[in-house]
Amino acid sequence: MSSDHKNHALVIGASGLIGWAVVNELLSSSSSSFSHITALVNRPLKLEDSFWPAETADGPRISLVSGVDLSSSDEEFENGLKDKVLNLESVSHVFYFAFKSDLDPINETTLNVAMMRRLILAISNLSSNFTSFVYPGGTRGYGIYRPGGIFTAPLTEDLVDTLPPDYAATVAYPHYRALLTAESKGKKWTWCELCPDAIIGFTPNGSGFSLAGHWAVYLYCWKLIYGEGAEVPYPGTKQGYESLYSETSSGTLARVGIYAALNPEKLAGKIVNVADSVTPGSMSERWPQIVKWFGLKGVGPKEGASVEDQKPGEFVKENKEKLVEAGAKGVEIWNSEQLDSYGYWLTFDRQLSLKRLREARFEEEKGPQEGWWEAFEMFKKAGMIQ
Ligand SMILES: NC(=O)c1ccc[n+]([C@@H]2O[C@H](COP(=O)([O-])OP(=O)(O)OC[C@H]3O[C@@H](n4cnc5c(N)ncnc54)[C@H](OP(=O)(O)O)[C@@H]3O)[C@@H](O)[C@H]2O)c1
Ligand SMILES: *[C@@H]1O[C@H](CO)[C@@H](O)[C@H](O)[C@H]1NC(C)=O
Ligand SMILES: *[C@@H]1O[C@H](CO)[C@@H](O)[C@H](O)[C@H]1NC(C)=O
Ligand SMILES: *[C@@H]1O[C@H](CO)[C@@H](O)[C@H](O)[C@H]1NC(C)=O
Ligand SMILES: *[C@@H]1O[C@H](CO)[C@@H](O)[C@H](O)[C@H]1NC(C)=O
Repeated sequence: MSSDHKNHALVIGASGLIGWAVVNELLSSSSSSFSHITALVNRPLKLEDSFWPAETADGPRISLVSGVDLSSSDEEFENGLKDKVLNLESVSHVFYFAFKSDLDPINETTLNVAMMRRLILAISNLSSNFTSFVYPGGTRGYGIYRPGGIFTAPLTEDLVDTLPPDYAATVAYPHYRALLTAESKGKKWTWCELCPDAIIGFTPNGSGFSLAGHWAVYLYCWKLIYGEGAEVPYPGTKQGYESLYSETSSGTLARVGIYAALNPEKLAGKIVNVADSVTPGSMSERWPQIVKWFGLKGVGPKEGASVEDQKPGEFVKENKEKLVEAGAKGVEIWNSEQLDSYGYWLTFDRQLSLKRLREARFEEEKGPQEGWWEAFEMFKKAGMIQ
């Protein structure tokens, strides 16, 4: 692959759940196709606080750039990039993982589409070798935010074309695709949308939506209060416990993203479902595996479990001083209320079909529990749990 050594990856949202994993993967893989990685973050982050592996002699160089805000004006954003990004003109592959949440879903869509548009205009203007743009959608784009869901699983990529318009107005992804299709027309760059369900992974400084981070603190706190070996009921209902889904470790998602970027002939202009395994999972299988990592015993939901019960986030808040006493930093999650209700509203099957991914010859299979355990190891290494 030495002919590819001029590749320069720009990772936007590099401190987030997916962005962190892509940088981690680009730095870890021994036969890298990239000579330079620029990791862009909004809130400040120091390289020594990032928990990425160190550069190696024959691996890519990394530049970490803080304080580039996609919600600033077009001009301000473009000037910020020009001022701060070294060799901006050589950027060839963009990995875009920024997302800003807003309580109002229509405003959220407008805001996020504007952020993506700003980046696309700037890069296509400033980087002559720009060839690939990879970003995440998710099962929200298949209607899972509507009670009971919209489609019957397994979910296949073509379903997005039949999403009801009133729902589509509340999700950024269809609008991203319209933007990218229009902007890439007649240009030499292409795009690919990765579609995961819940993403399991590590972030060095909090996340908008990390189920693994949220539950890591909950279970660690549970052990502090109830002791080794205690039972932990699943925070959800029986239907939630038994419903089928697919989980995606952030490492798998990162590897698929890099694969799609480097092999555009396989997935250009397409959405592709991504998961660790073709076999659907359920929490009745996963919860005991997750909880076991903490030396506790995961059991099914309590009899008569309801959404009125105390939530993981409330339990952690109530026992905050125990965490502080134990010297754990915790994981800051800004949408923790949504994660708290995970087991109560996701009560229907929503597993992904991996047919398209396998046809594109990405064939990695991994036990999804491994992704949870890897994330917990990293949270421990970072002192967020002990
Ligand atoms: N988490 C999941 O389980 C999951 C599942 C399916 C799909 N997805 C999708 O994946 C996408 C990314 O989500 P995530 O889970 O990775 O979120 P995340 O962990 O909260 O990361 C979001 C990233 O966006 C950055 N960002 C936010 N506002 C920005 C701005 N104005 N300028 C520049 N950067 C900004 C954040 O940086 P700062 O923190 O520094 O602002 C952060 O690095 C979303 O579309 C989400 O719907 C997530
Ligand atoms: C984490 O984020 C906060 C803002 O929320 C910031 O002040 C702090 O510097 C960040 N810490 C690290 C280690 O990046
Ligand atoms: C674009 O890529 C070619 C081929 O790898 C390389 O020779 C050239 O220097 C690159 N251009 C920029 C601006 O980096
Ligand atoms: C949506 O954004 C508009 C314009 O910024 C604002 O006036 C409106 O209050 C927002 N709506 C909600 C529900 O937040
Ligand atoms: C693109 O670059 C030209 C000059 O090279 C500049 O005038 C224009 O404002 C830029 N457009 C965008 C959208 O960045």
